[in-house]
Amino acid sequence: MRGFSDRAMDIQPTGVRKMFDMAGDDVISFGLGEPDFQPPEIAIEAMYQAMKDGHNKYTTTAGLPALRKKIAKSWDHVCPGLDESNVCMTMSGTNALLNIFASLVNPGKNVLLPEPYFPLYGPDVGLWGGEARFYECLFENEFVPTIEHLETLVDEDTVAILYNFPSNPTGATITKDQRDELLKFAQRHDLWLITDEVYDRIVFDGEHVSFVGCDNDRVILVNSFSKTFAMTGWRIGYILSANSEAMAQMTKLQYYITACSNDAMQYGVLAAFEKANDYPDEMCSEFKARRDLICSRLNAMPGVQCHVPEGAFYVFPKVDVPGMSSEDVAMELLKGGVLCSPGSAFGPSGEGHLRFAYTISREDISLGMDKTEIVLKRLRGD
Ligand SMILES: Cc1ncc(COP(=O)(O)O)c(C=O)c1O
Repeated sequence: MRGFSDRAMDIQPTGVRKMFDMAGDDVISFGLGEPDFQPPEIAIEAMYQAMKDGHNKYTTTAGLPALRKKIAKSWDHVCPGLDESNVCMTMSGTNALLNIFASLVNPGKNVLLPEPYFPLYGPDVGLWGGEARFYECLFENEFVPTIEHLETLVDEDTVAILYNFPSNPTGATITKDQRDELLKFAQRHDLWLITDEVYDRIVFDGEHVSFVGCDNDRVILVNSFSKTFAMTGWRIGYILSANSEAMAQMTKLQYYITACSNDAMQYGVLAAFEKANDYPDEMCSEFKARRDLICSRLNAMPGVQCHVPEGAFYVFPKVDVPGMSSEDVAMELLKGGVLCSPGSAFGPSGEGHLRFAYTISREDISLGMDKTEIVLKRLRGD
């Protein structure tokens, strides 16, 4: 019998999924990164109405012009002048990433990626024969890379760098000065700058700092409505760039990946934009209360140091249990009724950390933290 491709055989299931698949129903789950909210009612109704109105067909590959126009307009404050030609709808951020790497990476070329990372980045680059070259985002530096470190990794085969702020798994954000330094690095080496900003509407104490509008010619944005409107199961996102050549290539490729996005759903998202644009802010204030709760609980536990993140809905504390790996600790927590992800699932510098997604109620966070504290005290002998 014929076998499978090397690229299929080389890809491993992510560590996040592995823990999730082992968990029973009775655990308190800080496992998966999806909001525990439903999409705005108005979006559900608009999608349903669109289906009844006959919007059950293929759309143009780039998607519904009215929605793309609305998306382009939503970036006006940082990048005026964009229009629907600068947006291609995709079936999720995951789809957008795959398309972007397919469009930019040739075999033998490399892409600089953050580490700890969203686990799809590396395999996505590898699928097209590229090398994933990881730059460290360390706790000691509030999970932001240093330019000195980036300079040691870049070479003439580097085609792109990906930044992800707010970050999964660390929740890290950047200041405008840090953004400008990271931008200059990409410009100095003539790299494509891929910016994954799927958490742009979940930023707590200041404004989201975007790369959009900085260097119109080389910046490519990945975004998604999974987190913005709590639509993880809808599978809808988009690519945006001021670079018309990049948009043409990516729109062309999108045809071969999914032909187009979902017809009726685009009307649902449009309605959310038009009539429920403050919905993400409501979610965000609840996430902020949860962040405060989980950080204060974790920071009060022996052996735990938790950076207070400014965005997304993850904390990535350093957890010191002598002689145990983050996977061992996560397994023990699972036995104690708490599901979280071992930091090592997000790359080697995640070792010694755990990721908690605070996408559950404050009551459950408190219960989960009680259980976490009991297990950690037992493991550490405190
Ligand atoms: C950093 C980051 N990028 C992209 C995605 C993909 O999101 P989706 O495929 O649901 O749009 C996720 C999902 O968790 C993420 O955390």
